[in-house]
Amino acid sequence: MEINKNEFHAVFGQAADWFVIWSNKAIAERGIFTVALSGGSTPRKLYELLASGEYQAQIDFTKVHFFFGDERNVQPDSDDSNYKMAHDALFSKINAPNVYRVKGELAAIDAANDYEQILRDFFQNETPHFDLILLGLGTDGHTASLFPDSPALDEQVRFFTENWVEKFGAYRLTLTLPAINNARTILFIVTGADKAQIVTQIMQSEPSEIKFPARRINPIDGKLIWLLDVEAFKNVND
Ligand code: 6PG
Repeated sequence: MEINKNEFHAVFGQAADWFVIWSNKAIAERGIFTVALSGGSTPRKLYELLASGEYQAQIDFTKVHFFFGDERNVQPDSDDSNYKMAHDALFSKINAPNVYRVKGELAAIDAANDYEQILRDFFQNETPHFDLILLGLGTDGHTASLFPDSPALDEQVRFFTENWVEKFGAYRLTLTLPAINNARTILFIVTGADKAQIVTQIMQSEPSEIKFPARRINPIDGKLIWLLDVEAFKNVND
């Protein structure tokens, strides 16, 4: 596990620079770059930066295959949709012919089955081997839509599943641990003082301590990087 600490704005510049390096390397080696985007609010600044002229000039987005690590069970034009956030911040500003949207407008189980099939078709029925998975962190220790004590945490066969989240009284749609932990690189981007406590708890917990889903992100043979701003990092090592 690698921990990288930056000032707030530098976090997104660092992530964008890595995106350039990793995407160009994957495209050179395999002709494409596969990335699963995270949702919520934090990554918007990264997506906006990637859409800027400076970064568009460095990335061949026609060879980037965009997937989603999770999605809400909502219409694609809903303000709660992770697709809508990524579309407004990035896809609407670049030429991105390979975007695989989770059909959040369907019933949860149908949306999950549909995306499971998309993943199985793309990865030839093998466990997805994403070049990069972006993840965020909730203050309860959730990541993607793997929430504490939620059923999807135990899913070991499916790559993508619906997940009932009691505290929302709603389904979410999410990659499962086997799909996430098979990635070449997993990058957490966590910013803000409100995440400092959970970051400390996770950094000081053991992988066996399963109460925090984010602590169960342990790539089989890939890289795990935590990219934090100084606010989110401030209590670590106290
Ligand atoms: C989602 C995300 C989720 C997010 C965390 C942090 O769909 O909400 O995938 O896992 O990364 O909840 O969200 P913020 O970045 O908004 O703090």
